[in-house]
Parts: sequence; structure tokens; C-alpha cells
Amino acid sequence: MMSMIDAKKLAERFPDDFVFGVATASFQIEGASKTDGRKPSIWDAFSNMPGRVFGRHNGDVACDHYNRLEQDLDLIKSLGVEAYRFSIAWPRIIPEGTGPVNEKGLDFYDRLVDGLKARGIKAFATLYHWDLPLALMGDGGWTARTTAYAYQRYAKTVIARLGDRLDAVATFNEPWCSVWLGHLYGIHAPGEHNMDAALAALHFTNLAHGLGVGAIRSERPDLPVGIVINAHSVYPDSDSAEDKAAADRAFDFHNGVFFDPVFKGEYPEGFLAALGSRMPPIEDGDMATIAQPLDWWGLNYYTPMRVSHDQAPSAEYPATANAKPASDVKTDIGWEVCAPALGALVETLNARYALPDCYITENGACYNMGVEKGAVDDQPRLDYIADHLSVTADLIAKGYPMRGYFAWSLMDNFEWAEGYRMRFGIVHVDYETQVRTIKKSGHWYKELAEQFPRGN
Ligand code: NOJ
Repeated sequence: MMSMIDAKKLAERFPDDFVFGVATASFQIEGASKTDGRKPSIWDAFSNMPGRVFGRHNGDVACDHYNRLEQDLDLIKSLGVEAYRFSIAWPRIIPEGTGPVNEKGLDFYDRLVDGLKARGIKAFATLYHWDLPLALMGDGGWTARTTAYAYQRYAKTVIARLGDRLDAVATFNEPWCSVWLGHLYGIHAPGEHNMDAALAALHFTNLAHGLGVGAIRSERPDLPVGIVINAHSVYPDSDSAEDKAAADRAFDFHNGVFFDPVFKGEYPEGFLAALGSRMPPIEDGDMATIAQPLDWWGLNYYTPMRVSHDQAPSAEYPATANAKPASDVKTDIGWEVCAPALGALVETLNARYALPDCYITENGACYNMGVEKGAVDDQPRLDYIADHLSVTADLIAKGYPMRGYFAWSLMDNFEWAEGYRMRFGIVHVDYETQVRTIKKSGHWYKELAEQFPRGN
């Protein structure tokens, strides 16, 4: 179904200072995996193991962004956006995780940030988008408390060098993925299937977030700090009491374990009752460290989560099974399209937590059509983005503090376990030639973004 939303008309539904941007992440675009002192991350190791990533694709070249920085900054500028969300690769900055700082790694992000400033584009940096230095696995990676302290030093190092030119910083991107997908479901690096490991990774990631907030503020007290969470819009499969209880458990397990510590200073009660005895030691002061007030938070939203009660007696908490999507409308990665769930999710979260300003730090769709006669006709992506922006405008009309929207992604890139076969860009990348082609959705987004900020 084509929504045929007119970009200029849609723009009228947003406040003058609403921020339109595009987003990427270091491992997904940079390539140059051995350049200028970078050492391997857990994703370099994982993607080079058989059977982990589609086609055994890896990040060695990716979009070759490291070597094409200026041209990619020009591309961002040409899209008319006000802001660029990118992540910093820890293995470029402190290649072994702890130990010497690599000045050449910092130099790259210096050039990136200066290049944004020179073009009048705001810099939204993410400190951790999953590329943990591989050397830290020797101590247990995120299952070790020491990794949280290593992260604290990394955060301080980055902000000391770049903080004066950043407009916002996020401590973590989607801890749900690095914790649960990485340590419980085995789909992301480091590929573990172990609840105890996952619970340790959960607490030490949350702790690292809090230590990071302190480190950032010690360097730059005025820099707006937040965290980016892929909150799940959870629906029970039926009205049965069992399915509804399953949805409540799923909410705690997939959202509560991040939102409750950060915004309330505690873990959810039901979750603790079920799994608390398997958590790593929570030391005095940890929860207060984690719960420091934030200036903003980022929501990454793509698809709703539908669950039913898992009847198997052996089912581990939260004892839920994935239920059927409510509609057949899916993107090429198989994710149900449901824009209203975005609205419901923001309303639910604001009802449960005292949340600061919200940026939609990621939203977008996977459609894999290629270039034909110099153009990419990705009308379904355009419709997807337009429909989700329309829901965002409804939220603003209802009074929710939605401050910006970042399309995922600036360009096609390494889609983690799916490798390069799944494309989310509003710009197409030909991986043979590294030619970038703005898709139809990108041209439409440009028309919208160019209306902002208005009045100055
Ligand atoms: C969320 C992640 O932050 C990003 O890295 C990923 O590519 C998109 N979702 C799409 O799956």
C-alpha cells in the first residue's frame, strides 16, 4: 500500500527545531579493520568463524567509509539533514581495551567531527555500538566487571578529545542486542547461549552505562548524555490470562531490565524473583551509578514483539514464545510492519517511567531492491518512513517530548548476522565499486529534512 505522504505537508506537522538526521555505526560502515593501529573487535572474530554470519561476510572493507570520509560527509550534506548519528570504534581508540591510547584512531574521529562542523551538521556520537575490543574477551568480555571500568576509561578518553565539538553523546546502542543476542540467544558476538553469562553481561553493561555517564560529565558537564534502547512494543498473542502474563514477563525481560535500572535504579521485581540468584554480585552504589539522570534517551524502533506463553515445563524465564505477526506486511528481513505500535510504545514507556526528551535514534526498513537505470525505486521504504514519522507527529501533537528522528541508515551496510545481503540504506551501496546512489526514499527524505530547522 502506498501512503503517498507529501514530504512538505508532513514537515508542517513538526516543530521548527525538530532534528532530522541519518544514522550509521562504526563496524557496519568503516572497513579498514587493520588500519592505523585498529585491533580486532569481537565482531571481527565472530564474523570470521564459520556459520555465524551470512556468507561469512565480515567488516574488513564494509562501505570503506574510513577511506572515503570526505566524500561520505559530502553525501550526508547533500541529503539536507541537520544531524549525523555515528559510533566510535573502541578498538581504534584503545585497541586492546585497556592499555595504550591510539592517537591515530582519535585522529579519524577528529576529522569526522570537524568535517561535520565544517558542513554545519550536528554530531550525535554513540560510544558503544557492539565492537568490543577482542582482547577484553580474555577477562570474559561483558561478563566481567572489569570491562565496565575499561569502558569508563574509554568514554573519558573519547570525550576529553572530541567532547567540545559533539552535540550529544549516547553511552550505549541497543544493550538488548549486545546482552541478550550476544550472550543468551547466540546470534550476535560473542555468540554465547548461557543465561548466567547473559545476566552478568546485563549488569556490567548497565554499570558501564552509569560509569560512562559519570566519565562524560567529568569531562564535559554540559554535553547532553543519553542512552539508545531498542524498546520492544510487546503484545500478547491472545486475551488469555496466560498470554497476558507472558507479555508482562516479556516486557520486564526485554525492556524493564534496561529501563528500570536506568530510570528507577532497580531491576524489575518479577525478573529478580526468577533470576536474581543468578545475577553477578551487585555492589553497593551500583544501582545509584546506573540511575543518574539523563538529558535525553534514544528509541530505536522497527517492529512489534508478539508473544504467547511457552507451555514447555523446561522453559526458562520469561517463558514466552514468539507469536505470529498480526499482518502479512513485512520488510525483506521478515519483520512485521506496524507503525501504530511505535506510538503505543512511546505512550506506554512514558506512562511507566519519568523519561527525558526522546530522539528516535533509529527507524527504517530493509528492502533489497538494486539500482536500475541509475535509480533505486524503494517506494516501500519511503512509505515505511513516512508512516512512522506520521505517528511521531501524532505523538508530538499529544504532548510527548519527541525531539528528533534519525533514518536508519544513511547507506546500506553490514547488517550483523545477515551480512551485506540485507539493505537498510536510504542510499544504495554497490559493494564491488563502492558507488553510492541515493534511493527514492533518500530523495524524499531530503525534501523533508531540508525544511528544518525552520525560522533561522
Ligand atoms: C539496530 C542496530 O542498532 C543497527 O546496528 C542495525 O543495523 C539495525 N537495528 C537494523 O537491524
